Amino acid sequence: MIIAIDGPSAAGKGTLAKRLAAHFDLAHLDSGSLYRAVALKMLRVGQDPADEDLALAAAQTLRPDELADPALREEATGKAASIVAAMAPVRRALLDFQRAFARTPPGGKSGAVIDGRDIGTVVCPDATVKLFVTASDEVRARRRSEELQGGGGIAIYARVLQDMRERDARDSQRSVAPLVAADDAIVLDTSDLDADAVFAAALEYINRKIG
Ligand code: CDP
Repeated sequence: MIIAIDGPSAAGKGTLAKRLAAHFDLAHLDSGSLYRAVALKMLRVGQDPADEDLALAAAQTLRPDELADPALREEATGKAASIVAAMAPVRRALLDFQRAFARTPPGGKSGAVIDGRDIGTVVCPDATVKLFVTASDEVRARRRSEELQGGGGIAIYARVLQDMRERDARDSQRSVAPLVAADDAIVLDTSDLDADAVFAAALEYINRKIG
């Protein structure tokens, strides 16, 4: 069983993915962490994330331990991630890992929940279930600001909102694997739903689909 969850930043994909993975006993992959890790690796050594050759080299040499760095969650890392994520060679370099995870989930699990931008469209077009999770810009910026403040970061709502819009625009308008709902995805607007309600709605849909 493969559950693909796509959507813009801070829409609640990660929270939903973790809860669904626990519920169905599936492995979970946050595919955004791969792009974030490539970006962070470059930023750490003072490289420009817009340099495609260097970005490709960073993607090709990515190690699993680089996916656990707390700095992955920083806004600067997210911004740089969306720059390297627009490069076709970088995406290609990260594709095998994601498909292998879906094909042979770690821990002997019988399937996986993968969240990102292109999981239902490119990485796992044959996923059992495809969810596209979204929310209004304002709600997403508020959630992200709270998340960053909770993590000790200095977050200003207006700046977060602007950065988020820029990043979403870059993710949606790129020519390779743009952020878009798959034709066969169900769209979940979480603007007026808390995490429990989102989980309940997703579960109802999935159980109907696989039942
Ligand atoms: O946490 P948030 O939803 O803000 O972002 P993320 O899922 O960690 O993704 C960070 C960036 O990686 C995105 O803005 C995309 O540019 C890129 N990404 C992608 O292109 N494809 C994916 N499957 C996942 C992330």
